[in-house]
Amino acid sequence: MQYIVSDFSSTVEVPETGIMREEDSVEIPGYLKDIEKILITENCIKARLRGIANEINKRYSDKDIHCVVVLSGAIVFFADLMRALSRHGFKVTYSLIKLSSYSKAKSTGKIAVEMDIGRVEGKDVVVIEDIADTGLTLDHLRNHLLNEKKAKSVKVCVLFNKMTKKTAEVNLDFIGFKVPDQFIVGYGLDFDQRYRELPFVAVLKS
Ligand code: XMP
Ligand code: MG
Repeated sequence: MQYIVSDFSSTVEVPETGIMREEDSVEIPGYLKDIEKILITENCIKARLRGIANEINKRYSDKDIHCVVVLSGAIVFFADLMRALSRHGFKVTYSLIKLSSYSKAKSTGKIAVEMDIGRVEGKDVVVIEDIADTGLTLDHLRNHLLNEKKAKSVKVCVLFNKMTKKTAEVNLDFIGFKVPDQFIVGYGLDFDQRYRELPFVAVLKS
């Protein structure tokens, strides 16, 4: 693993070996038999979250945003992010949306809105998503919010951006970490609905 000591003020690039802070322990609890390694420790996620909140604070002078949170993975990230934003005096409202595309660890490539949100007409919307891979999900959602839901503006905030080729050109306004092209779990991310509760991000044994 590589030590990152202080700077989480902009997107952090995570090497395949992972990142940690000096004070972190990366011992994997014994009951997690399927975890190969911890990629990003809990402390690193917390530090970067404060950085993202600072970035959002600089972009919205009226400190008033409506977040559209993508179920199910992004709720863990969002729960922490909105509290980091409240420390900047933000007023945050949110709604939850459910899209479908993934089955187990593979994208099907077809995106559908499974559970839609209420009115966001005329609002400044920030989409909160756990991870961007091909970009198809976020591209679809952005168009949905602008064209069908008539949002005033849409910015996109992802905790992780996978360093893969993007099929859809979607602008990511706030990015927590750039991660290697590996399937990751933890901090809201799942494999077949498991591992979402882990406070760190990990790579599974293949
Ligand atoms: P696209 O390709 O549309 O994919 O950008 C975004 C969605 O794919 C899921 N995804 C993952 N989920 N670990 C996960 O648990 C991963 O490594 C991963 N990569 C992509 C995720 O649901 C996201 O909404
Ligand atoms: Mg998701």
